[in-house]
Amino acid sequence: ELVVTTSPRELRTAVRRARSQGQRIGCVPTMGALHEGHVSLIRRAVEKCDFVVVWIFVNPTQFGEGEDLAKYPRPIDDDLKKCSEAGVRLVFMPTSEVIYPDGFSTWVEVSGLSDVLEGSSRPGHFRGVATVVLKLLNLIQPDVAFFGAKDYQQQTLIRRMVADLNLPVEIDVCPTVREEDGLAMSSRNAYLSAEERAAAVRLFEAMQMADARFREGATDVAAVQQEMWDHLNEPDLIEPDYAVIADPDTLELLTSPQSRMVTLIAARVGSTRLIDNQLIQLP
Ligand code: PAJ
Repeated sequence: ELVVTTSPRELRTAVRRARSQGQRIGCVPTMGALHEGHVSLIRRAVEKCDFVVVWIFVNPTQFGEGEDLAKYPRPIDDDLKKCSEAGVRLVFMPTSEVIYPDGFSTWVEVSGLSDVLEGSSRPGHFRGVATVVLKLLNLIQPDVAFFGAKDYQQQTLIRRMVADLNLPVEIDVCPTVREEDGLAMSSRNAYLSAEERAAAVRLFEAMQMADARFREGATDVAAVQQEMWDHLNEPDLIEPDYAVIADPDTLELLTSPQSRMVTLIAARVGSTRLIDNQLIQLP
């Protein structure tokens, strides 16, 4: 049966009890507004672990000035129902005061990876993510933490932090769950009007296009990127931010193709910023 708490002490006690019974502890960090993407992480966690904790916290420090912190969806009853149905044992939903008490002044910075792509469009974003993820790993002390491939740069940065700081946790990265037309599921899709929702499929189409070009033998990375950009830019509704081909491990931008690549896209659809990515694996 599902326990819901805002108290770190109650969290600790429950996790300690489970661990003393030899149970494997899994944790799924989220900001709530759970959709099928989140639920796929939760299901995998329940499959691989005995005691699954879902973290629900709309982390203020990863939102920039003028971003959607205030209007971020918070359908808590619905979230708890999904957790309960999936077999989650504990939902931890702390308040901001618990996570960032007066005087809070320690931050985690993953140099390099924090500053490019999403990091350059959203200054301070990854500092907020790395800091809150380190805090939640310390609070929960899971054996395994589950993240989505949907946020490619985020999972890259978290794996880097875990390695660099010798954190005793396994990071499991789960595949991106998509709508039928290919749009990656996201809590922010709820902001899209019908017209914007129809246009948003262009992110997926642009990535498919890049994949096809390289399979056809394209060697001009800049030309492929331009083609993606143009496809995104076509309707007035979409304003691309970046559409690039990068090394999947370092996220360095590529100037010529290699056997493993990742396509990374960010675009504003109406006033909603969407991101997506796709690995390209050439034979
Ligand atoms: P949030 O956006 O709620 O996402 C929580 C987790 O769900 C992330 O690991 C994300 O990659 C994964 N996810 C989101 N959409 C997905 C999809 N369509 N398919 C598969 N996985 C998906 O990411 C965050 O929250 C925050 O930055 C957090 C890590 C919780 C720190 O505050």
